[in-house]
Amino acid sequence: MKPVTLITGASAGIGAELARVFAAHGHELFLVARRADRLNALADAIAASGRPRPVVLTADLEKRDAAAALAAELSSRGLEPSFVVNNAGFGLSGSAAALSRDEQLGMIDLNVRVLTELSLTFIDSLARNRGGILNVASIAAFLPGPGMAVYYASKAFVLSFSEALHQELSGRGIRVTALCPGPVETEFQARSGMTLPAVAKIFELPSRRVAEIGYDALMRGQRVAIVGLGNRIAVAIMRFIPNALLLRMVDRRMGGANQS
Ligand SMILES: NC(=O)c1ccc[n+]([C@@H]2O[C@H](COP(=O)([O-])OP(=O)(O)OC[C@H]3O[C@@H](n4cnc5c(N)ncnc54)[C@H](OP(=O)(O)O)[C@@H]3O)[C@@H](O)[C@H]2O)c1
Repeated sequence: MKPVTLITGASAGIGAELARVFAAHGHELFLVARRADRLNALADAIAASGRPRPVVLTADLEKRDAAAALAAELSSRGLEPSFVVNNAGFGLSGSAAALSRDEQLGMIDLNVRVLTELSLTFIDSLARNRGGILNVASIAAFLPGPGMAVYYASKAFVLSFSEALHQELSGRGIRVTALCPGPVETEFQARSGMTLPAVAKIFELPSRRVAEIGYDALMRGQRVAIVGLGNRIAVAIMRFIPNALLLRMVDRRMGGANQS
């Protein structure tokens, strides 16, 4: 079986940059997202840079059978993951009670369920290849997020799960890293129905830089990588702020809880 790096959500934003960074370091890629045109354009660009053309697979990872279908596709092509990058994810802004329940459950399917399944499905081949798992969490993982409640909770899961997996799999030579970016201007904002506030600009980093930091952290075997000094300071300060105050500070809903 030929080793490849599996990257989900590679058609845009941080995932597309992760694909470029892994390719630049000589990894052969297996890229997954729903938009075939975007994936193919990226695969062509990587091939044009002199690297092997990534294999692309269009799949909706919110679907229950997505991970099994993906594993079958890899195996039918004689491929096995040496690295798994669980990057696909989205958020939704608004009060959890008012947002679509189906969409929020779909977010859990993508941000949590398929990430868990893909982290666990390929452990034997990750061990064989002395590879690893890069799970894209967020600085949202470090606090509850009224106004994006399910999203923040999903990222808290990703962080907790990845840290525990880092410990559990270290004996098998598998690296596991939780990558925690702060604000990054991508399609994420439009999809989640939010705009970055002016203050977020202080903490913002380009998606390329985020991808490079994630790659280096994974290769070093770092457990958690909070991206950027500003975000690291913000996370450190947050630990000293009582949750009751933090909840009011981060509440994204216009008009407060009684307006939802
Ligand atoms: N941008 C930020 O400020 C920020 C901050 C912290 C963490 N993050 C995290 O970083 C990760 C990447 O986000 P991004 O900012 O790069 O967002 P993005 O530009 O919206 O990209 C999201 C990627 O996920 C894919 N995706 C979405 N739904 C999918 C589905 N059902 N099945 C398969 N693929 C799907 C999208 O591809 P298709 O639409 O083609 O399927 C796209 O490639 C996410 O996990 C996000 O939570 C982002």
